[in-house]
Amino acid sequence: MNLNPARLPGQKSGKPVDKPVDKPVNKPVRLTDKYHREFPYLRLSVTDVCNFRCEYCLPNGYHRSHRPAVLTREEIRRLVTVFAELGVWKIRLTGGEPSVRKDFTEIIDMVAHIPGITTTAFTTNGYRLLANAQKWQDAGVTNLNISVDSLDPARFKKITGHDRLTEILAGIEKSLELGYGSIKVNVVLLKDINDSSLPDYMDYIRERPITVRFIELMQTGDNLAYFRERHQSAQVMRTALVKQGWTENIRRNGAGPAVDFTHPDYQGAIGLIAPYSKDFCLACNRLRVTATGDLRLCLFGDIGIPLRDLLQSDDQMPELKSRIITQLEHKKSSHFLAQGKTGLIPNLSATGG
Ligand code: 5AD
Ligand code: SF4
Repeated sequence: MNLNPARLPGQKSGKPVDKPVDKPVNKPVRLTDKYHREFPYLRLSVTDVCNFRCEYCLPNGYHRSHRPAVLTREEIRRLVTVFAELGVWKIRLTGGEPSVRKDFTEIIDMVAHIPGITTTAFTTNGYRLLANAQKWQDAGVTNLNISVDSLDPARFKKITGHDRLTEILAGIEKSLELGYGSIKVNVVLLKDINDSSLPDYMDYIRERPITVRFIELMQTGDNLAYFRERHQSAQVMRTALVKQGWTENIRRNGAGPAVDFTHPDYQGAIGLIAPYSKDFCLACNRLRVTATGDLRLCLFGDIGIPLRDLLQSDDQMPELKSRIITQLEHKKSSHFLAQGKTGLIPNLSATGG
């Protein structure tokens, strides 16, 4: 691993990192709901398969079920084209682990070149990053999110079931050198496992223009016992950050539900995602489509709206457009997680985070 972290082009010490490429194209977003939220951002799962066994997500690993086959590239092309025509400019490919798909690079290439799409992101556990960072950038990926729940190899192995921390960190180093527009590291906050690791992550981003995002553990259909044992409010992080001179960034319009902190001595930033906090859903700017083509209005919503029947030919695209607009009327004000509602999802490999 290269221990001299690269800087992004134009990146100077102490400057807030993030998103030179997160710019909307100049056209009105037409997807809105009855709470006046706009949806410029689509998360599309391209597979529910994952090769990791994160304790909070797939503790027993992925088991193939008799679910329908995942969307084909042609179906994905029609879907993304219609969302782009409705004003979506940012796509995030998720899974499962999206890079387990053999045609993943082709999918990126296709999605990134659909007119109107200016930001192509994906979320990965990073296991193929080192070998593919260049190829994926060439295909059109602008933003990367990598899950790294611990910077300690043994603890990382315990959480994910894989002893791959070193190669994943090397993949991140490589991506920094290549100058990806935005690199974020996701950390699911776990009580007594990684909730005292803030100093390690701070060291990690002192010289690296990376945003580390602590995500509160969310309850899903499958993880109730684990959730009760390990959920830790992000408030502890907030208190520690403020005490050490980090300042909360003013939210940019359309920034989504994370709150980011910066510090003049650090190149990187720290973000908190606290889905159980009051008003979290007010900033929701994303829609999700599952690997089999169901539109999910909320990660935890209990409605899955099938779109696949309208992805079979280009002639159906106008009808698809009107189905999406009509269904958005049903998006609720909040996920109601605090009332213990988890909606349809058994775990996050089913819908992507
Ligand atoms: N709660 C919070 N985050 C989760 N993720 C997966 N399952 C959960 C959960 N139950 C995270 C992954 C990844 C991101 C997409 O979502 O670790 O970083
Ligand atoms: Fe871990 Fe993500 Fe795979 Fe779930 S989908 S097991 S969180 S890497």
